[in-house]
Amino acid sequence: MCWRIFKYISHLFHTRHRHGHGIHSPYLFEFVNGVLFNSLGTEVPGAILKEHLKLRAAYAFVRRSSVSLKYGFLLYRISRWFQAQMIIELGTGMGISTLYLSSGSPETPLHSIEGDGERAHMASQLMNKCCPGQVSIHCGDMDEKLEDVRHLIPPRYMAFVDGNHHYAPTVAYVRKLVERAGDECVIVMDDIYWSRGMHRAWKEVCSWPEVRVSIDLFHMGILLLRKDLHKQKIKIKF
Ligand SMILES: C[S@@+](CC[C@H](N)C(=O)[O-])C[C@H]1O[C@@H](n2cnc3c(N)ncnc32)[C@H](O)[C@@H]1O
Repeated sequence: MCWRIFKYISHLFHTRHRHGHGIHSPYLFEFVNGVLFNSLGTEVPGAILKEHLKLRAAYAFVRRSSVSLKYGFLLYRISRWFQAQMIIELGTGMGISTLYLSSGSPETPLHSIEGDGERAHMASQLMNKCCPGQVSIHCGDMDEKLEDVRHLIPPRYMAFVDGNHHYAPTVAYVRKLVERAGDECVIVMDDIYWSRGMHRAWKEVCSWPEVRVSIDLFHMGILLLRKDLHKQKIKIKF
């Protein structure tokens, strides 16, 4: 806990680039201004927001482990901006982040993996109730299920990594995703300061040559794999 607080204070001191200041790449400038901080320009559908608030009030798991409204909205904006050929999510939980990801780009097939049978079932029910997109929830161990769906992952995908928060599995999952990447992909990692292990995993994946830009928002990290971008590590107070 002390380590996290220390890291948070250090993050605040090392952040620059709010609203794109000091970012020279037009692509990145557009991403920071038009996607990260454009909370007014892209409004999340009211039905999704209503469902999130209802489940937050009813379930401690959602309050504790699901994305917050702010980060759910961010997932929605990234998904809407990127328009991937496929979205892959590791760690469905009860389906809150899945809803945001899918409603940002309802035409995009989304595959989500969850190990807990009850949560996977509730997530499926939630998708049937209010998700506009095509979502497949794969219930089972992450290693096995990722292996099953890996061959389906197209070159232009968006991934959200939010399950099994330990160093070795996180690095292994992101490696598998990166191996499928074409010219442009986006990988979002949740809880990059959740533990020393998760932070080590984040730093390691940021150092890979395929990862051109890493954006550290403290609670989430975004990896942009786009071949024409220069290697850059950015910290932003979000
Ligand atoms: C933080 S929760 C996901 C929350 C969800 N992304 C959201 O924001 O609504 C992480 C989920 O990953 C699942 N998980 C953790 N380790 C796993 C593993 N080895 N295999 C499959 N699922 C796993 C847990 O059951 C849990 O529901």
